[in-house]
Amino acid sequence: QTVDWDASAAGKAGHDHYMHKEIHEQPHALRQAISGRIDELSGKASLDIDLDDEFLKSIDEIQIVACGTSYHAGLYAKELIEPLVDITVRVDLASEYEVYDGYDARNTLVLAVTQSGETADTLSAIRRAKAPGMTTFAVTNTVGSTITREVDDSLFIKAGPEIGVAATKTFVSQVTALALFATYLGRVRGTLSAGDGADILENIRRLPNAVQSVLDSESQIKRLAKQYVDSDAFFFIGRGLAQPVALESALKLKEISYAHAEGFAAGELKHGPLALVTENTPVLAFLNESASPGETFNNVKEVESRGAPVIGLTTESNSGSFCKHSIDVPNLGRLGPLVSNVALQLFAYHVANEMGRPIDKPRNLAKSVTVE
Ligand code: G6P
Repeated sequence: QTVDWDASAAGKAGHDHYMHKEIHEQPHALRQAISGRIDELSGKASLDIDLDDEFLKSIDEIQIVACGTSYHAGLYAKELIEPLVDITVRVDLASEYEVYDGYDARNTLVLAVTQSGETADTLSAIRRAKAPGMTTFAVTNTVGSTITREVDDSLFIKAGPEIGVAATKTFVSQVTALALFATYLGRVRGTLSAGDGADILENIRRLPNAVQSVLDSESQIKRLAKQYVDSDAFFFIGRGLAQPVALESALKLKEISYAHAEGFAAGELKHGPLALVTENTPVLAFLNESASPGETFNNVKEVESRGAPVIGLTTESNSGSFCKHSIDVPNLGRLGPLVSNVALQLFAYHVANEMGRPIDKPRNLAKSVTVE
């Protein structure tokens, strides 16, 4: 008897694609990101970082620089940090980042979010920030990467290697690391009480199981993907914390399926994108409790009245809604949209798989882009 074996299939551990494997690795990746970092007693994450407390107390602005999926993690981080900490958070696409003459650099932390630590645009933004003396910090997956050698300090997301070009587990781990950092900052600066910090940490602790429950509903998501694979376009709408996830979900789908997919702030639909909505453009709507679902329900009505099928990302308490379809995800406070994102990673995967796309290596794209 012989056993067929090839290195690539072995690396995929029985999955058809690395992306599918990596989507399913998320509960494990999250446990690694969280392990040893949660101190519910103090309500403050224990992070092995060197940025000193006096500096963290003195800053009045964080400038996040990142590209692609990491940029969306940065946008999510802004929504997490600003309500907890009295700091303005600016999020720039690294390729657009500029430091203006006369800028007072002392009270600013420039935070690069980068899975690989090698993205040229992000490295270049960090170099621009360093010129006038700004303190730089990286949230990255890659120990020993170029960025870790150039910044003042790094926080590792510990997601493990990601082979699929489209980022999946690293997005969830980046947002989780940034959520931990938000509680750290809030406690250091005294803007977050120990009790409120503990509540956030408790939700972070529940994330791996919540993600697992979404993975367990894969067959339902796969059915929806098959049903809508021939659509003209796919739109993703969300508010607040769900807006960056709408952008990320659309990016995932377009990267691997080549379908036309766009994410919008739900409230912006009526200011233009509504013109694109037809009965052949499914709308995926984030109705998580932390993402102003009541207002997004109004947008759901707007698109349904134009015939668009709606797939709602709902929680148990609002699943009796009028969306044509709903995918229930656990209610996890301000991390709820992050959990919904996992459902839409699976949706993107199954649409692309149904189309027979080369999911792990989409045309024209690279895992790490080392040119500006
Ligand atoms: C490339 C990848 C994207 C990734 C982006 C930023 O464009 O295809 O998936 O999000 O780079 O990569 P980084 O390693 O900096 O997070």
